[in-house]
Amino acid sequence: MSNIVSHEVRLASRPAGLPSSANFILAKRELEPLPDQQVLVRNLFMSVDPYMRGRMNEGKSYIPAFELGQPLEGRAVGEVIESCAKEFKAGDVVFSNFGWREYFMASPKALRSVSREIQPLSVYLGALGMTGMTAWAGLNLGEVKAGDVIYISGAAGAVGNVAGQLAKLRRCKVIGSAGSMEKVRFLRDECGFDIAFDYQTGPVSEQLNVEAPDGIDVYFDNIGGATLEAALSALKVHGRIIACGGISGYNEEQPRPGPANYFNVTTQRLTIKGMIVSDWLGRQGEFEKEVGGYFRAGKLKNHETVVEGIDQAVGAFLGLFAGKNIGKMIEKLA
Ligand SMILES: NC(=O)c1ccc[n+]([C@@H]2O[C@H](COP(=O)([O-])OP(=O)(O)OC[C@H]3O[C@@H](n4cnc5c(N)ncnc54)[C@H](OP(=O)(O)O)[C@@H]3O)[C@@H](O)[C@H]2O)c1
Repeated sequence: MSNIVSHEVRLASRPAGLPSSANFILAKRELEPLPDQQVLVRNLFMSVDPYMRGRMNEGKSYIPAFELGQPLEGRAVGEVIESCAKEFKAGDVVFSNFGWREYFMASPKALRSVSREIQPLSVYLGALGMTGMTAWAGLNLGEVKAGDVIYISGAAGAVGNVAGQLAKLRRCKVIGSAGSMEKVRFLRDECGFDIAFDYQTGPVSEQLNVEAPDGIDVYFDNIGGATLEAALSALKVHGRIIACGGISGYNEEQPRPGPANYFNVTTQRLTIKGMIVSDWLGRQGEFEKEVGGYFRAGKLKNHETVVEGIDQAVGAFLGLFAGKNIGKMIEKLA
């Protein structure tokens, strides 16, 4: 097969502060005939994630920066169109890191087979993918157990809603905050949170005082900044913080001062544990068994917001910083 023209999103310039569509370019690439030992894949779904913002900056981090003029990367689920490698055949569904493009060619070792039995296939980018695994790993890292009062910020997002559902399955009391009343209802009615509040309607510290007057045992931090500061004042003695993300600062141009009440870490004898989900890849089988089991049994729901078309991918990404998603933000490509 030849003459396939694939659209792809490339990084045109490094954003300063909040990215805009001007930092990206939608380009066309004509694919060569498929070489031996390569597989041609058409992407069905791709993931847009807040961590990609960090990869748009220059400089050293836990993951390399995106290169200017090159297609962005990210997790994707696609269908094999043609294969010149014995490991895959046309029709197979595969997981890869070649998002942000409609088609690609890759060697078998860059692909992982996934089952069509679980639908929608976008679940491999959400509850049963990296964000679900982040939620699961975070709860394990924080040793979250029955009876804990856990507060989750960014609760209506991809990581947050799964963290809350899994914490409920662990018989915790679960409190979540999110940026609209629609999200608050979603948390209570569809994700089973005990308490949810809109952080835009009043200071988080005041809302936590009302909702958890006796304090919280665990804070699952997706936001950082003022929300972290509020949680530091709500944590009980020996409380734990799962430091998962800090999206409130990702577009800041200057480093922010730390929380004014950081000394609470000492007075309350708190534990803060930073986590990066890729450190947990050795436990992927365990995650798939446990969380996949909940999903198949109907005990865990995969919630997503789907945006269609490669020309909408940048908008979907930018939407993460404007709170446009409920559940996992998914880009449907085919
Ligand atoms: N450590 C790891 O390995 C790991 C892995 C995956 C994700 N993460 C982190 O986990 C966090 C959640 O990721 P996700 O994939 O689940 O994203 P997400 O929550 O699905 O999407 C981002 C959400 O963040 C909220 N938000 C955006 N800008 C904000 C701001 N300035 N202040 C407060 N809230 C803001 C918005 O919800 P509202 O409408 O509620 O504001 C938005 O919907 C991110 O910080 C991400 O970087 C970490």
